Amino acid sequence: MKTRGGTMQIKFDDVKKYDTISETERERLKKIYGIIKQKESMLDWTDIKTCISKEELQKIVELSNEVRTFCDIFIVIGIGGSYLGSKAVIEALSPYFNKNKPEIIFAGHQLSASYLKELLTYIKDKSVIINVISKSGGTLEPSIAFDEFYTYMKENYQDYKKRIIVTTDQETGNLRNFAIQEGLSTFSIPREIGGRYSVMTTVGLFPIAVSGIDIIKLLKGAKEAKDCFEDASRYALIRKHMEEDNKFIEAITVYEEKLSSFAGWCQQLFAETQGKEGKGILPIINQNTTNLHSIGQYLQEGKNIVFETVITVEDTEDIFLDKYNMTMNELNNVVAEQVSIAHKLSNTPSIKIILEELSPTEIGKLIYLYEMTAAIGGYLLDINPFDQPGVEEYKKLVIEELEKNKKCNK
Ligand code: PA5
Repeated sequence: MKTRGGTMQIKFDDVKKYDTISETERERLKKIYGIIKQKESMLDWTDIKTCISKEELQKIVELSNEVRTFCDIFIVIGIGGSYLGSKAVIEALSPYFNKNKPEIIFAGHQLSASYLKELLTYIKDKSVIINVISKSGGTLEPSIAFDEFYTYMKENYQDYKKRIIVTTDQETGNLRNFAIQEGLSTFSIPREIGGRYSVMTTVGLFPIAVSGIDIIKLLKGAKEAKDCFEDASRYALIRKHMEEDNKFIEAITVYEEKLSSFAGWCQQLFAETQGKEGKGILPIINQNTTNLHSIGQYLQEGKNIVFETVITVEDTEDIFLDKYNMTMNELNNVVAEQVSIAHKLSNTPSIKIILEELSPTEIGKLIYLYEMTAAIGGYLLDINPFDQPGVEEYKKLVIEELEKNKKCNK
């Protein structure tokens, strides 16, 4: 199949056994289609117009251009859906070496004190801009990092208020209140879009624009994939049938290292969307051909609980290999094809996604396809695709413990 208006392809040839649909499933999908068309709760990401307004898009373009003129280091502070999407797109579409200015650095996505300390040392004497992103405005990791960077910026720049941009819920939360009180620039996150579905909002678009990637083309790609319901439901249904057949792990396999973070974003999207109520498939990142020399062995001969989604790219920068009379990218794709055959023979079948090239348009399409697949898959499992009660549970325990500690120290 080809998505309308583009060349990204998704192939289900190797998973025919799972590519079926019962009358009940057909009826269920009709209802799901209705829910999505009606844009019921938390579905604003399905429509680019409700993801980002013309005014905010204009503001992103202008501010990112300005930032790019004087900034050496752009720090994105956020965790989960607040940073994985922009990281995925930036790494997929930026050069490996000789990176453009500004250098984009992520922080607040873990609690490593040495990471924070070393980063604070690294940015000394460089021109720094901070973009803190948190929809709730209260997540532990980014709020700790933001406190440290806020102090640093205040101590090091007279114009620090111009150098801190806050992306948060459009109305509520501690971060919004803080931004208003301190007079900082803000971007709003639409109320009806959750973190992991927010790449095409201010959350993802601003850092991506700062990195120099054409966000208009990225949005164009997402728009072109708007009619992907059929492919996404087929993919979602196949995943459901895999789970019913005890295939509990999906290796998201990429053959271009630039797509590793993209696989990480998919992992979060699928795991946080569907891993609840004792259901769902565990997605894992599988970077090939690197992992052919590690977990590839498991995929070939280990427990029969894995299937793959293999993402390859037709056309990347290339090197001609005289010895094999083909380009290196062609050779990479030959390996991908042969590995799929070997895995299929040992009962690890694969779904295949082929990108024409690594471009903003193709990545935009891929993001939209994955978001749609995740949401449909959630509805098919009769779970809410847009909450994460498990995450809330651990957050509650951490807060209780920290509160106890605060009281003890008083
Ligand atoms: O997808 C989600 O909703 C989560 O992964 C959140 O993005 C993550 O927990 C960060 O939340 P917040 O943006 O509120 O700091």
